[in-house]
Amino acid sequence: MRTHYCTKVTEENIGEVVTVAGWVNSRRDHGGLIFIDLRDKGGLVQLVCDPEDNKAAWEVAEKCRDEFVLIATGTVRARGEGLENTKLITGKIEIVLDKLIIENRSKPMPFDLNDDKVNEEIKLRNRFLELRSTKSANIFKLRSKVGITVRNTLDELGFLDVETPILTKSTPEGARDYLVPSRVHGGEFYALPQSPQLFKQLLMVAGFDKYYQIAKCFRDEDLRADRQPEFTQIDVEMSFCDQEDVIEVAEKVIGDVFKAVGHDIPAKFTRITYNDAMENYGSDKPDMRYDLKMTEVADIFDFCTLDIFSNIAKDKKANRIKALKVPNGDNVFSKRQMKGFEEYVRKFGASGLGYFQMKEEGLKGPLNKFFEDTPEKLEELVQRCEMEVGDIIFFGAGEKKLVLDYMGRLRIELATQMDLIPKDTFEFLWVVDFPMFETEDGRTKALHHPFTMPNLDKCDLDNIEDLEDVESIAYDIVLNGTELGGGSIRIHKSDIQAKVFDLMNIDEKEQREKFGFLLDALEFGAPPHGGFALGFDRLIMLLAGTDSIRDVIAFPKTQKAQCLLTSAPSPVDNEQLKELSIRVRTEMKNV
Ligand code: AMO
Repeated sequence: MRTHYCTKVTEENIGEVVTVAGWVNSRRDHGGLIFIDLRDKGGLVQLVCDPEDNKAAWEVAEKCRDEFVLIATGTVRARGEGLENTKLITGKIEIVLDKLIIENRSKPMPFDLNDDKVNEEIKLRNRFLELRSTKSANIFKLRSKVGITVRNTLDELGFLDVETPILTKSTPEGARDYLVPSRVHGGEFYALPQSPQLFKQLLMVAGFDKYYQIAKCFRDEDLRADRQPEFTQIDVEMSFCDQEDVIEVAEKVIGDVFKAVGHDIPAKFTRITYNDAMENYGSDKPDMRYDLKMTEVADIFDFCTLDIFSNIAKDKKANRIKALKVPNGDNVFSKRQMKGFEEYVRKFGASGLGYFQMKEEGLKGPLNKFFEDTPEKLEELVQRCEMEVGDIIFFGAGEKKLVLDYMGRLRIELATQMDLIPKDTFEFLWVVDFPMFETEDGRTKALHHPFTMPNLDKCDLDNIEDLEDVESIAYDIVLNGTELGGGSIRIHKSDIQAKVFDLMNIDEKEQREKFGFLLDALEFGAPPHGGFALGFDRLIMLLAGTDSIRDVIAFPKTQKAQCLLTSAPSPVDNEQLKELSIRVRTEMKNV
C-alpha cells in the first residue's frame, strides 16, 4: 500500500511521487492551507494540501481528525528556508498531496498520547492506543533488538534454545504459585512456573550441556515498580562449569546487548561480597553510581557514656552501629531536612537517628557530651570516616538487620534528595558469596533456592554451628541499584541435596512430593552445572531509562495484578467451574 515509511522520505526523494500510510498525529488549518503530521511506527512526516492546487485532496484533508488512518500520495518538496523543523527526522521536507484516502476513522482519543501525566488506568484500559506513542514504539524496538542480540550471542556460544512447560508443578523461587485447575484430574492443579529452574537442571542431566530460553515466568507476589506477576527471564544453564564460567557468559551477553544499543560498558564488572554489600551499603543490591558508604563504629561507641549506645556496642555479632558520612551535608541540610531524615528512618523501625557535624573546631552534635572523657575517640571517628569541615555523619544503632536496612534506605534517600544519582550511567556489580540460608519467622529458608550449592570449601555440612554462616556459590548481578539477575552453581549430588533439605527441616515426604523428579534425576549421573537468569523486562526498563516495568511490557498488569484491557481476572460461568470440579464460595468473590 505504501512506497515509503514516513521517516524514510528524505531530501533525496525531492521531486518524486511517494505513498505513505499511517495515523493523523495532528492537523493544522492555516487559513485554507492544511498541514497533517502523519505518523507510522518510525515517526512523523508532514503532508500539506493547498485548496487552490488540489481541491479534491483538500476536501478529504479537511475531514481528517486525530488518529484517522490515511493513505497519502504526493510529491516530495523541500520545506524551504526558515520553515524547517529540526526536531523531526523529516523536518526538511514535506509531501504535497496529490491523493488522500481516509482508510478508517477514529473516535476522539480518550487521552493525549503526548501527555505523560494522564491517569495510568485510562492508559492501560486503552493500551493499544498508548502503544502508538513514539516513546512506546522506541521501547519495543529496543526490546526486540535486545532479544535478538541475546539469541545471537548465546547461539554463537553454543547454547540451545529449549522451551520448557508452562503447565507444570510448583518451582522453588519462593513466591506464591499461580494455579491452573485440571479438568481431567478433578481437584488437582498445575502450577505456572516461577522460573524454568528445575527443567533447566533436568536438561543438564539430559546432557544438553548449554541451554537458554527467553522464558515466561509467573509469580503471585506483591507488585512494585519493577515487578510484574507475569514477566520474562533470559534463562541460562550450563554443565561442567564453575562460577567464573557462568559469570563470563553473563558478562558477554550483557556486553553484547549494551553494544548493540549503543552503550560501551566494561568487559568485566566489579565484584563485592554479600557481606560487604550489606555492611557498607545496607543492601544486597547497592547502587554504585554514588559514593556514600557506611562505616562500622561500634568499637568507638564502647566509650560512649550514654548507656543506650554502649550497651548496643557490647554485642558486636548481633548489633551494629553504622556511621554514614554525607560530604558537604552540614552545609546544605536545613534543620527541617535533618528532622525529615530521622522521621524517614523511623518508618523502617529506627528508634532515632544520631548525627555529628564537622565544624572548624571539630565534631559537634547532641552526642558530644557523652564523649567528654574520651575526646580522642571522637578524633578517631573523624579519621575513620575521613571527615572534612562541612560534612555530616548520621548514625544508626541497634539490631544488625534492622540497622543495615534503614541505613541502606537512608543512603538512597540522601542520594536522591542531594541529587547525587547521575543519569545515563550504568554501574554493574556482581554480588557474590551469598549466605545459603536465611531465617524468617523462625523458619530456615534457602536465600536463593534449595538447589544452590553450599560452598563446601568453607564449611562442613555435618558440623555447622550457625546456619547463617553457611555460604553458597550464588551470585547476583546488580545494575544501578536494581537486581538484574541471579544464579548459582547447583547441587548435582543427591547426598548433598539430602543434607541441605535436612538442614532446612524439609522431611523426605515433602522432598519427594515437591521435587521427587529432580531428586531422582540426580541419581542418574547428573553433571556439575550452574547458570543464571536475567530479568528481561528489568533490563529493558533500565536501558530505556523508564521507572516502571509496565512501560516495557506490551500488555502489563496493574499493581493489583489485573489486566484492565481484557478485564482479567474475571468470573467464569458455573458450567466451566463444574467441569473443573470447583465451587466458588460467594463470600470469597472479590476479596
Ligand atoms: P530470581 O528469582 O533471582 O532467580 O530471578 C531472576 C531475575 O528475574 C527478575 N525477576 C522479576 N522481574 C519482574 N517481575 C518479577 N516479579 C520478577 N521476579 C524476578 C529479576 C531477577 O533478578 N531460577 C533462578 C535463576 C537461577 O538461579 O538461574 C531465578 O529465577 O531481575
